[in-house]
Amino acid sequence: MKPGAQLVVVANRLPVKQIPDPDNAADFVWGVSPGGLVAALTPSLASYDDVAWVGWTGHIGVEMTERFRHDNMELIPVALTEDEKELHYDGMSNGTFWPLYHDKVRAPEFHRTWWDGYKLINRRFAEAVADAAAPNARVWIHDYQLQLVAGLLRETRPDLRVGFFLHIPFPPPELFNQLPWRTEITSALLDNDVVGFQTPDDAENFSRLAVGLGLASSEGKWALSADGRSIEVRAFPIGIDEETVAYKAKQHGVTTGASDLRAQLGNPRVVMLGVDRLDYTKGIDVRLRAFGELLAEGKLSSHDATMIQVAEPSRDKVNAYVDLRERVERLVGAINGAHGRLGFPVVHYLHQSRPFEDLLALYRAADVMLVTPFRDGMNLVAKEYVASRPDESGVLVLSEFAGAATELTDAVIVNPYDLNGLKAAIMSAVNMDPAEGRHRMRALQATVRHNDAVTWARSFLAALDAT
Ligand code: G6P
Repeated sequence: MKPGAQLVVVANRLPVKQIPDPDNAADFVWGVSPGGLVAALTPSLASYDDVAWVGWTGHIGVEMTERFRHDNMELIPVALTEDEKELHYDGMSNGTFWPLYHDKVRAPEFHRTWWDGYKLINRRFAEAVADAAAPNARVWIHDYQLQLVAGLLRETRPDLRVGFFLHIPFPPPELFNQLPWRTEITSALLDNDVVGFQTPDDAENFSRLAVGLGLASSEGKWALSADGRSIEVRAFPIGIDEETVAYKAKQHGVTTGASDLRAQLGNPRVVMLGVDRLDYTKGIDVRLRAFGELLAEGKLSSHDATMIQVAEPSRDKVNAYVDLRERVERLVGAINGAHGRLGFPVVHYLHQSRPFEDLLALYRAADVMLVTPFRDGMNLVAKEYVASRPDESGVLVLSEFAGAATELTDAVIVNPYDLNGLKAAIMSAVNMDPAEGRHRMRALQATVRHNDAVTWARSFLAALDAT
């Protein structure tokens, strides 16, 4: 066996993705990959030596397949053709698993061709991992796009210690059991030594499922037994690189960026902010409706309140995302049409991916942060906002259906399905007594600091080592 890495991380995306070069359409440059997975995992691996990361470059066409080094890691690209991307990424991952695991906020589709594509690509990732891993190495598999990898590795590389972490929610068996391939997915997940989830509820859902399908038996609260092996099944709530975020948020460029921004908006009394991938799970539409109704009822006025919504383009080949975009843009247009003034729209909508420094300036400029998903694994934007408020001002409005609500109990917690409740929560955030706001923010900051990205990765890998 040839030498390889001691720790192999495998995720659908590499931490960097190929994007078209603005100066030369035929070429590409590297940009940071989207989403919370990369945001948390990248800093958490900084202190480990000898790490390889297997993933997709996010691009079709100018494919690069050679390994390369980046941030002290060996990056190993996995190439996908257009057809394979349609079946594995747009289809099975984001047309079946994503909605099924997010409480069926949209109807999942079940197609046998997607499933075949999913198996094929999981096998390709597993082969790349088997090739990259040193004897007895640790392998850390991430997320719903790669749930079969452990099963395939157990056949070819039984020497490896293999763990899986799911970044999104895991549904109750009552929903999961609709999946035609429930047995294959559950068995492959049981081939890991550790299966980690964002919350204890997610872990319990999985254990209940595995036992209910007769594929495992319970070995105490956070352990299962299958095929004579023990599998640790529990929550490892993911965190952010709190220290770096807090440090960067205090820098001069960010502070002045934030005050320039408020000036550009006409220095309103209240700036509200949403930052999300443009995803139907995030509740962007519901928060716009709540804001629109508050303006219509005169509880807020365009002279003293402004909302900024950054919606990062996402999965634009999947129909449900195309529909959501139309819905959100129609709502923004309607609210601005009814309540904006010349030169002063009341909702500022950016369908763009912004550099992190720009997001920090937005976080610092925002008095109220709206994180209102219908369902979310964790939601790291909520944690980033908290970490970037050095003066302890600002109020976080947080959906009870985000994993973050399990930890961030000092936020203003809302049910995003209850429009009146959401409106009341927004008004209580807008009118919150500053002393109470600071008290809550201090508690939130302590939580985010205590459980950061490094702590998360260490505890997961320690659990893997202990198996
Ligand atoms: C979430 C998922 C990640 C995914 C990211 C971005 O954070 O948990 O697995 O990579 O969204 O989505 P995308 O489809 O662009 O990779």
